[in-house]
Amino acid sequence: MTQPVAIEIKATDLDAIATATGRVAVCVSPDGDLDPGSRRANRVTRGAVQRLIDSDGFKSARHGDLRTLAWPAGMEAEALDVLVIDRKAKALEMRQAGAALGRVKGSQPMHVFTGSQRRTEDLVQGALLRCYAFDDHKTPSSDRPETGTLTIYHTRPDDLSEAMSKRVAAVEGAFMTRDLTNEPANVLTTTEFANRLDDMRAIGLEVEVLDEAQLTELGMRTLLSVGQGSDSPSKVVVMQWKGGADDAAPLALVGKGVVFDTGGISLKPAGGMEDMTMDMGGAGVVAGTMRALALGKVKANVVGLVGLVENMPSGNATRPGDVVRSMKGDTVEIINTDAEGRLVLCDVMWYAQDRFKPAGLIDLATLTGAIIIGLGHENAGVFSNDDDFCAGFLKSAQAEGEGAWRMPLGKAYDDMLKSRIADMKNIGGRPAGSITAAQFLQRFVQDGTPWIHLDIAGVASVKSDTTYAPKGATGWGVLSLCRFVEDRFADK
Ligand code: BES
Ligand code: MN
Ligand code: ZN
Repeated sequence: MTQPVAIEIKATDLDAIATATGRVAVCVSPDGDLDPGSRRANRVTRGAVQRLIDSDGFKSARHGDLRTLAWPAGMEAEALDVLVIDRKAKALEMRQAGAALGRVKGSQPMHVFTGSQRRTEDLVQGALLRCYAFDDHKTPSSDRPETGTLTIYHTRPDDLSEAMSKRVAAVEGAFMTRDLTNEPANVLTTTEFANRLDDMRAIGLEVEVLDEAQLTELGMRTLLSVGQGSDSPSKVVVMQWKGGADDAAPLALVGKGVVFDTGGISLKPAGGMEDMTMDMGGAGVVAGTMRALALGKVKANVVGLVGLVENMPSGNATRPGDVVRSMKGDTVEIINTDAEGRLVLCDVMWYAQDRFKPAGLIDLATLTGAIIIGLGHENAGVFSNDDDFCAGFLKSAQAEGEGAWRMPLGKAYDDMLKSRIADMKNIGGRPAGSITAAQFLQRFVQDGTPWIHLDIAGVASVKSDTTYAPKGATGWGVLSLCRFVEDRFADK
């Protein structure tokens, strides 16, 4: 698993500016004011920092911009990164500035002189998040160096170290989500996925892996109907984090874990089908969040459940027109085998509510292409039956800078799921495709359970770099969910 780059937090030592190897970063204000670190860098480079500030190019400098002086004379380092920092910057602005450092860090050691800057923990978190690469499947050139440490110099190193521990836990969670979501489907089979989750016993989670015989016994027929065309066995994994009071009802997180979605007999076109290796992104977020909560020893009870299946065509695959009875007991006419995510989620959601009587239920899924048409790659679609619960999540997402936008639900949309021969169809047609998918799920939410459905098809994995991640999996949701749990479910 990809580990965040190692960090070291030290008391300010200005002499290291001249002697450190790798990259050195110092801060200047957008007005061109120097702090003790940048003043020292300016002195050892005989005024190079001041010349940069006086240059025309610097006139447009904004908070978060980074200007690099290569092979600076008077320094051992091969680059001096001059980071523009507004001393009054807010938390997210500090993260963005940190991300600028993470983007250039590479495998070099990096020494960042932050002086007495407030919110340095956000700066470091941004750097850690952006400093991610998924290169497990690239053959290393023999001379590839080990990734060098990120050293932060600050006037109050102990306070900063303490503030960092939860941040590092969150980053580790997000990296697990990214690794799972980036992993190709021949590697991340249902069995391999379950094994990686089972490994999280080591960090204090209780983990159960339910196999096909147990799922049959439980009556999870719609979930099993999706996986029956694949040689990979369907599984449901239950992860429990018991950080809260014994009697506190947990928050339940449920994730769609389709390790590959060919569409089944309703086969997808070839172009772009390779992207469906990320169709387990919802389960990836659930896994990463559970990891972050456990590493951060968050004082809350949270259960995470994922439905792991592969949607393949075969002589044994579900056909369009088949009718299957869900664990709840309602029957579903499967019009399109490519609308498989909801069939996986409905059984796992039902089981989660039956077994855990959760105080709230959040499901995450790369559920519909339609949500990408509606919201692009900026926002996940948010659907909910509870305004207060939903507002709490939206607030958390905003605070973490993860785009989330509420979408409507309503009876007229639900009516689009009526079937001639069964209790419902699994699709409602092209109009409002993301909403009818959410309506399908809502039929499996028990009365009185606050519920949020997050359609993350547009945000789980993207084709260009984002502020906090290189192209590919983003880990969207881990930070928001961790904050939501802290704010709403944790003992204070
Ligand atoms: N996994 C897809 C949705 C998806 C599309 C995720 C693009 C990420 C990127 C889902 O299982 C699917 O195939 N949905 C269909 C539903 C349709 C058949 C009603 C879709 O969106 O076309
Ligand atoms: Mn599909
Ligand atoms: Zn799918």
